[in-house]
Amino acid sequence: MVVSIGPVALTDGTILGDLAPVTTVPTVSDNLFSEGVISTEVVGISFVPTTGAEDEPEGELIFGDVEGSSKYTGQITYTPKETDYWGITQSISYNGIEIMASAVGVVDTGTTLNYMPTDAFNAYINSTGGIFDEATGLYEITEEQYDALDDLVFTIGGTDFPLTANAQIWPRTLNANIGGEEGKIYLAAVATDPVEDLNFINGYVFLERYFSVFDNTNSRVGFAATAYTNATTN
Ligand SMILES: *[C@@H]1O[C@H](CO)[C@@H](O)[C@H](O)[C@H]1NC(C)=O
Ligand SMILES: *[C@@H]1O[C@H](CO)[C@@H](O)[C@H](O)[C@H]1NC(C)=O
Repeated sequence: MVVSIGPVALTDGTILGDLAPVTTVPTVSDNLFSEGVISTEVVGISFVPTTGAEDEPEGELIFGDVEGSSKYTGQITYTPKETDYWGITQSISYNGIEIMASAVGVVDTGTTLNYMPTDAFNAYINSTGGIFDEATGLYEITEEQYDALDDLVFTIGGTDFPLTANAQIWPRTLNANIGGEEGKIYLAAVATDPVEDLNFINGYVFLERYFSVFDNTNSRVGFAATAYTNATTN
């Protein structure tokens, strides 16, 4: 059985054996809510950029009210939850040009990279000058191209969530983990064939830079800046 904080519908079919007619599993936050431990069914997720160092800061999961947490700065921007997954609407811009018009996709704590629709990804890669690298399956850029990177901006609920140049690249200390070479720079994004309601996936690469809030009670997803939004850890 998978212990999950995602939507209950996704647990359908995960129960084996003779427990029928039970087909879905309440999530940890469902149980905390039904047992009265938390008064709103909300999970706040603080991921921090990882470098593999032993003493690096740790992330945090917050069950219940996230207001006032020190894990984010400024305001939380909320946007409606659009699908059974943690689906949201966003647009994406690079270099001041909208490369993905407003579309529905998902935020996923179980996905490492950022997935963009093929057209948007091609426009982005083209602007960066990245070259496909067989060993990692990612696009490699030079030091000069890295220095010239513009913000990659995700616009959600009317608020811009920029990924800085450093936030757009794979952590260089972890290059060997993906078959990369020491000192090289790889863009931490890949293309996906867009389908209805799944035009993009915002994975760790995004979630390490923005605090995220999964609010089942109000059927909404929230994001806020953190101390790591602009950090140069990669
Ligand atoms: C990349 O840029 C070139 C030159 O501006 C253009 O001809 C080409 O269509 C672009 N390719 C993509 C995939 O956007
Ligand atoms: C990140 O840097 C930009 C540009 O300097 C600045 O406008 C923004 O407020 C910073 N964000 C955070 C969360 O520090």
